[in-house]
Amino acid sequence: MTTAKIAVLSGDGIGPEVTGQAISVLQKVASKFGHEFSFEDGLIGGIAIDQTGSALPDETLRLCEGASAILLGAVGGPKWDNPTAPVRPEQGLLRIRKHFELFANLRPVKAYPALAQHTPLKTELLEGVDMLFVRELTGGIYFGQRQEQGDGDTAYDTELYTVGEVERVAHIAFRAAQGRRGKVSSVDKANVLAAMRLWRRTVVNVHEDYSDVTLEHVLVDACAMHLITRPASFDVLVASNLFGDILSDEASVLAGSLGMLPSASLGSGTMGLYEPVHGSAPDIAGQDKANPTGAILSAAMLLRYSLGLEAEARAVEAAVEQALGAEAYTADIAPRGGSSVSTTEFGQTVINYL
Ligand code: NAD
Ligand code: IPM
Ligand code: MN
Repeated sequence: MTTAKIAVLSGDGIGPEVTGQAISVLQKVASKFGHEFSFEDGLIGGIAIDQTGSALPDETLRLCEGASAILLGAVGGPKWDNPTAPVRPEQGLLRIRKHFELFANLRPVKAYPALAQHTPLKTELLEGVDMLFVRELTGGIYFGQRQEQGDGDTAYDTELYTVGEVERVAHIAFRAAQGRRGKVSSVDKANVLAAMRLWRRTVVNVHEDYSDVTLEHVLVDACAMHLITRPASFDVLVASNLFGDILSDEASVLAGSLGMLPSASLGSGTMGLYEPVHGSAPDIAGQDKANPTGAILSAAMLLRYSLGLEAEARAVEAAVEQALGAEAYTADIAPRGGSSVSTTEFGQTVINYL
């Protein structure tokens, strides 16, 4: 029996709706497999700004420090989008990733056969699509020096990487590839950017320890194209913070919807942060319409990486696949005009299969 305390930061917009389904699934896992999971709520993002003035209150950090893992929904929304606001919801997310030094963000992208008909792409392109983005998460332009308002006429952000930062994320990518199809595609812009030349040189050096893994270098612009023209050729992609952010949203089209993608943010220990790849989707918030798959599959990753419960993680993933196979589609997947299930109904379908 495993006992675990899980910090729940559901945040803004559809965050609470999709996180609610992920918690229900985890509760079902606990009762089915005889574990004890407790859930404690904390504030992050816009709702935290409204209630405390901070996007990541100290109380939330203390809660997370005492937890085995963090389950997060999404942050942000039009209410807090004022460009001159001194504090933004997104700062809470960046701070929590940095605080726990969660430098590796795993974002798996799979094309489910049941959904192939529902993407804008040709079905034959999607055959065998199964890739893992390893996005560097605590460095690069997100955390480099920036100037917001100097004389009011200029602003800048800095892309800075150290060898150590690239090495540790490259090791994660090569090790992941060893357990998969043995290929790493390193994404960069080494033809223009100095930080990206350091990135490429470092990845080449780390590769020396992994002779069983094939390494290719792909420039980010061409990569954006190859993700659509030859998606099945990718196994593990390793990318900087910014490039990994952009390309994984693009790749979500292969999976049928941005709402499908989960993620795990990991550091050197077992503590991890688990969140869907999508944002707070203000356009559909509060309508019981959001696809909770990304959140539910993030909970499966939590079981795998923070709690070491591989069989339980697979059971959740299988139940999601069965629900999709039974054509339980939320509105983002359902064909135009067709019938669809609500967020709650989809979650319940997954639980029934579990
Ligand atoms: P978004 O990901 O929230 O939404 C993009 C589009 O995808 C929208 O049309 C939305 O309806 C749809 N979508 C997203 N998730 C869905 C789901 N689960 N089911 C069905 N449809 C879904 O991106 P955005 O609109 O560019 O950003 C909105 C806010 O979210 C911004 O404030 C942004 O900063 C924030 N954001 C937060 C996170 C995060 O918390 N990790 C990630 C991305 C964006
Ligand atoms: C994500 C989001 C965040 C990011 C934002 C909201 C800070 O887009 O988690 O992918 O850019 O990392
Ligand atoms: Mn993003």
